Amino acid sequence: MKKSQGISYAKIILIGEHAVVYQQPAIALPIRSLTVTATLTPRTDGRQQIASIFYQGSLTDAAQTPFAGIATLIRRLLTFFEAPAQGFDLAISSMLPPERGMGSSAATAVAIIRAVYQAFDASLPHDRLLNWANVSERIIHGNPSGLDAATASATAPQWFVRGQAPTPIDFPTTGSLVIADTGVPGQTKTAVASVAAKLTQDPARYQPLIEAIGQATSQAALALAQDDLPLLGRQLMISQNALRQLGVSSPALDKLVAAALSAGALGAKLTGSGQGGCMIALAKAPAEAGAIRRALEAAGATTTWQYDLVESEDPS
Ligand code: PMV
Repeated sequence: MKKSQGISYAKIILIGEHAVVYQQPAIALPIRSLTVTATLTPRTDGRQQIASIFYQGSLTDAAQTPFAGIATLIRRLLTFFEAPAQGFDLAISSMLPPERGMGSSAATAVAIIRAVYQAFDASLPHDRLLNWANVSERIIHGNPSGLDAATASATAPQWFVRGQAPTPIDFPTTGSLVIADTGVPGQTKTAVASVAAKLTQDPARYQPLIEAIGQATSQAALALAQDDLPLLGRQLMISQNALRQLGVSSPALDKLVAAALSAGALGAKLTGSGQGGCMIALAKAPAEAGAIRRALEAAGATTTWQYDLVESEDPS
């Protein structure tokens, strides 16, 4: 084992969350200026130590903590490389707020997998990276679509359908997204399970909402290809309306959506699993994003970011 480093990105889901668990498409964007970095340094004393904002301590003691899913992933990786007792220091630094729908757990997994493969000088095909990332995602989230891991490891916006290889998608020549954090944590596992419970209890009522989100996602892809931002904005609203009826919005998210629309956004919706976390708002042009950002901050957003679609990276 040699010293190594793996990097991954935050993600936002433009449209399609929750429905993507049930085979509908989704569109998600990596945010390349918000990174997770995993640095792996071999130790000769056999100790296996982790230092991160989520967990500080030995790999063994992590079993009883929220870090257990990532710890299992690390153990399986070491076993795969026939080095289960290899000593190491693993430092994880993350610019992502955890539990805000930005894919923090998948990004952490992707950074660690990349670091471990590099430490053992092994090449890492993309489909293998995604399979490994879903080891911890399954433990942490129960029934992940794989979207978070696919986007955390991508460098361009992705069109994603569960079980299929993700494909890059073109973005328009203008427009901005404003991302705003409610400051309230949202648990992906709980939100996904609550939607599953609704679909089981009353499929006639809830299944059409899943399909409506899928159709809005297909329309959104068309809107992106045609540079039609008002059409994209309408699809964001259709999706937010369905997500609200599925019970994954919240008063704080609804308040931010309303504030963004009053400030001139073409559309706004929650992003990620909801019940807290972040929302996004679509601005016609980068110059109009500032007013939306200020309105969101006045309505209680704890942090806002601007992501210009033109660049499709580097929010500030
Ligand atoms: O909240 P996040 O960043 O973990 O996003 C979850 C996205 C869902 O569609 C709700 C679940 C999934 O596995 O795709």
